[in-house]
Amino acid sequence: MTDLQLIKEAKIARRRAYSPYSHFQVGAALLTKSGKLYYGCNIENASYTPTNCAERTAFFKAVSDGEREFVAIAVVGDIEGREADKMCTPCGVCRQVMMEFCDPESFRIVLSNGRDSTISYKLKELLPLGFGPDSM
Ligand code: THU
Repeated sequence: MTDLQLIKEAKIARRRAYSPYSHFQVGAALLTKSGKLYYGCNIENASYTPTNCAERTAFFKAVSDGEREFVAIAVVGDIEGREADKMCTPCGVCRQVMMEFCDPESFRIVLSNGRDSTISYKLKELLPLGFGPDSM
């Protein structure tokens, strides 16, 4: 699967966003080593703090299905009604969740960087010196 295809899948996931408070809709598409795709969207809450980001939704769905090995995640986000063609970078909490299950040297985070244009980063670039399972 190309990075652009993965971004298109994240845009599909974004349609399910539940964001009545921020009106910021985020979608994620997580690719496993076995070739499966997991979709995630942000899920907000009237009490605000229980809000779950799209990236973590995708990871928790996959891990709870027994998946443990991941290749890449695409993330798109923008205000309701917009195309989500500019970069939406994962928050710090989501980067830490990625650190738990992914190799920071190889796992890639794919972002939209303009219409039909993508950019990707290794996890270690977005979370330098991250603390993970190998740190203990
Ligand atoms: N959000 C995500 O789902 N992922 C990100 O990478 C950035 C932020 C969500 C959380 C909240 O529902 C909304 O976007 C605004 O912060």
